[in-house]
Amino acid sequence: MPKQKSFYITTPIYYVNDVPHIGHAYTTLACDVLARFKRLDGYDVMFLTGTDEHGQKVEKSAAAAQMDPKLFCDQVSERFRELAQVMNFSHDQFIRTTEPRHFLSAQALWQRIEANGHIYKGAYSGWYSVRDEAFYAESELVVAEDGTKVAPTGAPVEWLEEPSYFFDLSKWQQPLLDFYEKNPHFVLPKTRMNEVTSFVKGGLNDLSISRTSFKWGVPVPGDPDHIMYVWIDALTNYITALQYPDMDSEAYQTYWPADVHMVGKDILRFHAVYWPAFMMAAGLEPPKRVFAHGWWTNEGQKISKSLGNVIDPFGLVNEFGLDPVRYFLMREVPFGSDGDFSRQSFVTRANADLANDFGNLAQRCLSMIAKNCDGKVPQPGTLQDADAMLLTDTANVLKEVRVYLDDQAVHLAIEAIWRQISRANGYVAAQEPWVHRKTDPQRMATILYVAAEAVRNLAILSQPIVPESMAKLLDQLGVPETDRGFDQLGEAGSLVPGTPLPPPIGIFPRITEKESA
Ligand code: MSP
Repeated sequence: MPKQKSFYITTPIYYVNDVPHIGHAYTTLACDVLARFKRLDGYDVMFLTGTDEHGQKVEKSAAAAQMDPKLFCDQVSERFRELAQVMNFSHDQFIRTTEPRHFLSAQALWQRIEANGHIYKGAYSGWYSVRDEAFYAESELVVAEDGTKVAPTGAPVEWLEEPSYFFDLSKWQQPLLDFYEKNPHFVLPKTRMNEVTSFVKGGLNDLSISRTSFKWGVPVPGDPDHIMYVWIDALTNYITALQYPDMDSEAYQTYWPADVHMVGKDILRFHAVYWPAFMMAAGLEPPKRVFAHGWWTNEGQKISKSLGNVIDPFGLVNEFGLDPVRYFLMREVPFGSDGDFSRQSFVTRANADLANDFGNLAQRCLSMIAKNCDGKVPQPGTLQDADAMLLTDTANVLKEVRVYLDDQAVHLAIEAIWRQISRANGYVAAQEPWVHRKTDPQRMATILYVAAEAVRNLAILSQPIVPESMAKLLDQLGVPETDRGFDQLGEAGSLVPGTPLPPPIGIFPRITEKESA
């Protein structure tokens, strides 16, 4: 049997200094959509998420909560697991950097880089931002409104002077540029690839990769006064999950190099510069792709704890139901750009695309079948051109969606599916099955069969985005759970005439103004 194609996708691992908010839900949701899509398309998928539990930021948060850091991490990490459940994420693994397997892996990677001569001991003096867990050159700092020097992200910085191990990042400028040239789609969207390339062209400084002034981290092998810089620790999670350092393991062999590391634009440099450099220095393959998505604002304002405008994903799902939230986040904003969350646009979008477009199509067709075809899949007669065209076009949407999703253009994939939903609605409106009810019941049966087939195909295709609703819809069409993969699109999985169907129920209720007030 030919080996199944594999697909490995990862989310960033989330800092446990904060409870989950919409930004976290967004990154993982995008991965969830892509992972579900690839599974349905026949791939052997590994989808990884988890929590990043070390570093000074987490140590400080635990101290502020007067808690032992490990207990603190256990508690917050649990919130991220709950978020995953509430959002219906389909990850295969949830990793925590405080797990023993991760210590083993991070130390092994360090030793490999060191054995290859790319780590040396020195002393660091310079600026550090705990909030960003990042080192900044003097030239990168900007002056804040109050006159203090801050990081380019606006985060406060402090002056550090301490002994440190360094990674010889400066030597990796040319190898990285060669790698980008050979892999022009290593970073997407393209504008982000350009940013990364020009950053690297500007020259790279060696990177401080250990700290001595606090303790919450993975000890440096052979020198436990030092703990690893949280980013080298965190990035290693992507291979820990594949049983590194056992590179003969089935997991490592099957899934490395990763197909997509999904990240927000703020952490692109760590993934597109440091991480491939670490991997090359270790003599290991860098990942295939880093996709950097944009940031959400709330009603036009930057989301921040201090402004008190953090969007709570648990609250949103509670209020509107899960699938409208999933749909809105993936559809509203071109994936890769920044976007604004507003209640008004949420309600408008959910009502127009879900309740009106898809909901009405399904409801109309299923309730006519229930009323006029004895509640059974109708027996079609001879197909006319319009019928055959709708069926072929609907089955062909997969090809288009595949192309978009290979570039993680999730919004374009959704647009393509919804274009076909519109065409299917147009088909029903033009064919007017209700007109034929008395005069030509055979024609009515054919139209309803064709429309139901279109709905089946569109429901199968939409599962990655709105899985719960599509499961309900496919139940209503009598499609067995085993027949919901993309190999069942088109004729392969055609509805069987005569199959009894359950009474139809609406899948996308309208959000009323009262609720949205
Ligand atoms: N721990 C690091 C990642 C290590 S990966 C080896 C980290 N964690 S984080 O919790 O701060 O952020 C995780 C993700 O949430 C990032 O991809 C970030 O872009 C995303 N978001 C945080 N706020 C966001 C918005 N307001 N909008 C969209 N995404 C945002 O960084």
